[in-house]
Amino acid sequence: MNKDPQIINLPKILDKRGNLSFIENEKHVPFAIRRTYWIYDVPGGEARGGHAYQENEEFIVALSGSFDVILDNGKEKKTFFLNRSYYGLYIPKMYWREISNFSTNSLALVLSSTDFAESDYIRNYDNFFFTIKNRV
Ligand code: TYD
Repeated sequence: MNKDPQIINLPKILDKRGNLSFIENEKHVPFAIRRTYWIYDVPGGEARGGHAYQENEEFIVALSGSFDVILDNGKEKKTFFLNRSYYGLYIPKMYWREISNFSTNSLALVLSSTDFAESDYIRNYDNFFFTIKNRV
């Protein structure tokens, strides 16, 4: 799988009793899953994120409701609208990411490639921009 930001469609088992989707490690997402967390009870219209990771890669699914994920690589900004539980957004490392416009009762599932480490975060946009510019 290529390592650009991308929407990845997940398997979808349609059933009159309710649909089912799944993710297998290293098969449906382009990294080995190390951690998962979820964001819930977000007041409608709220925003989160506002950081980049030096190493961590993520895959985000809107299990319920909807939200926008805005990705910025220092050159261009792209907005992805997530509102279905059968696809998700792959986010490579070193992308500034914000999640905004959470609908009321939305639920964001996040798969991560690394253990949680505060030292992996870049929380200041100027620092992010500076780091990116000096890598290219
Ligand atoms: P953070 O990733 O900073 O979320 P946001 O950018 O949306 O504010 O996480 C919020 C807090 O939760 C922060 O103090 C770190 C903590 N946290 C963990 O302890 N483990 C985790 O796996 C995650 C994702 C966050």
